Amino acid sequence: MELVKAADALQAQGKPVIHLSIGEPDFPMPEPVEQALIQAVSAHKTRYTAALGLPELREAISRHYEQQFKVRVPAHQIVITSGASAALMFACLALINRTDKVLLTDPGYPCNKTFVQMAGGVPDFVQTHEAQNFQPSWADLREQWTRHTAGVLLASPNNPTGTQLNAQSMKDIVHGVNTLGGFVIVDEIYQSLCYDQPAQSVLQLTGAPSDRMPVVVINSFSKYFGMTGLRLGWMVVPDTLLPAIERFAQNLSICPNTPAQWAALACFTPETLAICEERRQIFKARRDFMVTSLPKAGIELHSTPDSAFYIYAKSPYDSERYCKDLLEQALVCAVPGKDFSEFRGSEMMRLSYANSMDNLKTAIERIRLFNKGQLP
Ligand SMILES: Cc1ncc(COP(=O)(O)O)c(C=O)c1O
Repeated sequence: MELVKAADALQAQGKPVIHLSIGEPDFPMPEPVEQALIQAVSAHKTRYTAALGLPELREAISRHYEQQFKVRVPAHQIVITSGASAALMFACLALINRTDKVLLTDPGYPCNKTFVQMAGGVPDFVQTHEAQNFQPSWADLREQWTRHTAGVLLASPNNPTGTQLNAQSMKDIVHGVNTLGGFVIVDEIYQSLCYDQPAQSVLQLTGAPSDRMPVVVINSFSKYFGMTGLRLGWMVVPDTLLPAIERFAQNLSICPNTPAQWAALACFTPETLAICEERRQIFKARRDFMVTSLPKAGIELHSTPDSAFYIYAKSPYDSERYCKDLLEQALVCAVPGKDFSEFRGSEMMRLSYANSMDNLKTAIERIRLFNKGQLP
């Protein structure tokens, strides 16, 4: 993220930098949510709520699982959190004992390592490959599983790759880990931002989490609903974990942001869902543009990004040097792979298409000229 700071500094000097480094939607929160937030604040709905969240919102999310995924998740198993970040933190604290190993995918979301370490666990990175869209198979995880391994933390769709686990692989992983007595945390924060198939949830395969199926699902209002700064997310947990999660929630955050929780009730209305669907289509058009334009601009893609708003592409040379040169000479900011990967970070970089089509077109042209050595 050093490079993003350098990009901001260039921008402050008046340089027309284009960020392909952004990890949040470039849209504001949907209008009905904004109105609900203003109303909540005006009505002084600004005091603490229950640590596990507003019952109305937990109910609304439960209905959402039933309507969108045809899966019954009782509202009491849904916990509202301060973003997916707090949900990941609570899940790790509740599931990981000191010195437990936890399998994490490489490349992956960089903060996961911190959440595992904060809980006293030891991150154990599993290298994934473009041939499998940078997602692990059960065989990959099984090979690295030791008697010290407690579980696995996956993200589908994943950041930085914008790729998903297919249903069969997810099924194999959940079943395999379950037989070994481990846990599976699935981060579904980019769930509804997918472009080639309907959104999917691990809960469609497992049903609501239980002792027999110790899956924990992480989700958020940040990405699909464009509410990053409101700091609101949720998790779906087995009954047995609820007392521990409640204690962590009470002690570490008291409760999630109250006005944001009231505002989030407007997320599952037809008006908001229509706005989000329109935005999903816009992201899809940008994804299509980037996937066809990048190779013509000299950037190779080895996987098929079908979700989120990221492309994990091959860097023409060492990605730290390439991204620095690209920023300084072409004023385009991409993120070097080392931010996401211990193994092959220097070969790869992440490009985000959470930016306007006009900016994406300009960025691609600058990348093309830079790669050909033809920048003016
Ligand atoms: C995979 C993944 N999980 C979790 C988060 C944290 O999101 P939140 O804003 O909900 O805390 C992010 C943010 O970029 C992410 O990419």
